Amino acid sequence: MESVNVRTMEQPDQIDENLMCRLDEGRKMVEPCSIIIFGASGDLTARKLVPALYHLFRERQMPPSFRIIGFARREKSDAIWREELLQALRQFSRTKSVDEAVWAAFASHLHYCQADFGDAAGYQKLSGLLDSFGDPGLKRRLLCYLANSPSQFAEVVEHLDRAGLLRKEGHGPGEWERLVVEKPFGKDLPSAQKLNHELTRFARESQVFRIDHYLGKETVQNILMFRFSNSIFEHLWDRQSVDHVQITVSEKLGVGSRGGYYEESGALRDMVQNHLLQVLALVAMEPPVSLEAESIRDEKVKLLKSIRALKRSEVASQVVRGQYFAGQIEGQPRPGYRQEPKVKPDSNIETYVAMKLLIDNWRWSGVPFYLRTGKSLPLSASEVRIQFRRTPNVLFAARCGTSLDANALTLRLQPNEGISLRFNGKVPGTAVKVRPVRMHFSYDSEFGAYTPEAYERLLLDAIAGDATLFIRRDEVETAWRIVDDIRAGWDDRMLTNREFYAAGTWGPMAAEDLLSREGHAWRDPQPLQ
Ligand code: BG6
Repeated sequence: MESVNVRTMEQPDQIDENLMCRLDEGRKMVEPCSIIIFGASGDLTARKLVPALYHLFRERQMPPSFRIIGFARREKSDAIWREELLQALRQFSRTKSVDEAVWAAFASHLHYCQADFGDAAGYQKLSGLLDSFGDPGLKRRLLCYLANSPSQFAEVVEHLDRAGLLRKEGHGPGEWERLVVEKPFGKDLPSAQKLNHELTRFARESQVFRIDHYLGKETVQNILMFRFSNSIFEHLWDRQSVDHVQITVSEKLGVGSRGGYYEESGALRDMVQNHLLQVLALVAMEPPVSLEAESIRDEKVKLLKSIRALKRSEVASQVVRGQYFAGQIEGQPRPGYRQEPKVKPDSNIETYVAMKLLIDNWRWSGVPFYLRTGKSLPLSASEVRIQFRRTPNVLFAARCGTSLDANALTLRLQPNEGISLRFNGKVPGTAVKVRPVRMHFSYDSEFGAYTPEAYERLLLDAIAGDATLFIRRDEVETAWRIVDDIRAGWDDRMLTNREFYAAGTWGPMAAEDLLSREGHAWRDPQPLQ
């Protein structure tokens, strides 16, 4: 397929500035506050949270006064923690190299509080540290980030409550405490409900910010913008025009050092319950009544609730699992999942899932939504493909063959972020020859390489108290219901030969059959689309 040389309709310099509407102008101000990271010695803090906060600081988006406190078990001083974070920033920062002056100013806001999560004295120490900052605002506005093990979430919030650092009621003007909760949010519906119950014993639902980092990605946020600000596509966004939808989140990496965690989760819990269902909800939901957090979340929940529940007997035909065995990616040998560290040699965990879901609502009735995700696939790419219905091929069939390529719109979420429209064009010449061509919009060429990390946006929103991009209680529970039905259908059955795939291939054969039975085929993401 060739790309037509289509100039973007208006070059950036021709776009009327007045058309660049800033929808976040009404965004809440960020006020002085303290951010307490529980489990601060973990990978997430060093790789994602602190680099994100550093970039917000660099871009002057942090509040005028703030503190970041790492709360964790290991013994270390502020100086050592800062040094460790600096080393990590040098390695993981999205901007190279680290600006030493900015870092020095930023690092003066970082403090370390050594304590056991279960020790009340640790929370008194934390309270004393907050007092020592001298500014009451830094104690009366607290963002508590739970990046520790989920089994200790309940313990942490209870201790925070007892220490007066998390209040459900009784806030004075300008006072707040919020909990940011990392995934995994439970391992099934009952455990998620239990966790929700434990958190909301000490905090109101509006104080709980459940993170799904996919919602912080620019391209994922753009799904709503794209759908609801462009009339041409919104008219086509339903069962009359759409044949089926494919959502692919493929990863080149295997599980690597995360075998211990992955053995408990598998691809269904790790990726589908959260990221893929969130993307599906944004692609398929109805227009919200406003851009308020609750309006958007109401529509997402409505959509998730209208996904047809899979009966146990239907799971085998509508959901495919897979596990990678040793193979090659880009010429390099890759181990099988069962050879990865901390993985059982006879593990039955899925590293790949593909499924067909149906949405029982007026807009999407009868349109299959195919979802797939896997590790050790040929390349890392996330995309949504809207495959439109074919034209009745009465005109060109005799000369060009019986089936014309169907139009498709691809939303490339990462990498090479962009949107492509695929349609048929006449190949120049005297013969009547048709070929698919595409129109392509690339974020990079249109807006330059501005790619803030998802955590930057999410942390800023949590500080500002904007819950739009966080998952509500009923949302997380509805997503678990969908995933639990699938697990029930697997019924601890061992993987069969047809469910294994070589590292570096696009998954097990059974996944191809899932679509071919319906006359469809996966469109694999292309490296440079
Ligand atoms: C995480 C999963 O939530 O998302 C990982 O736990 C996965 O297994 C990661 O690799 C993918 O995120 P991204 O942003 O790299 O697509």
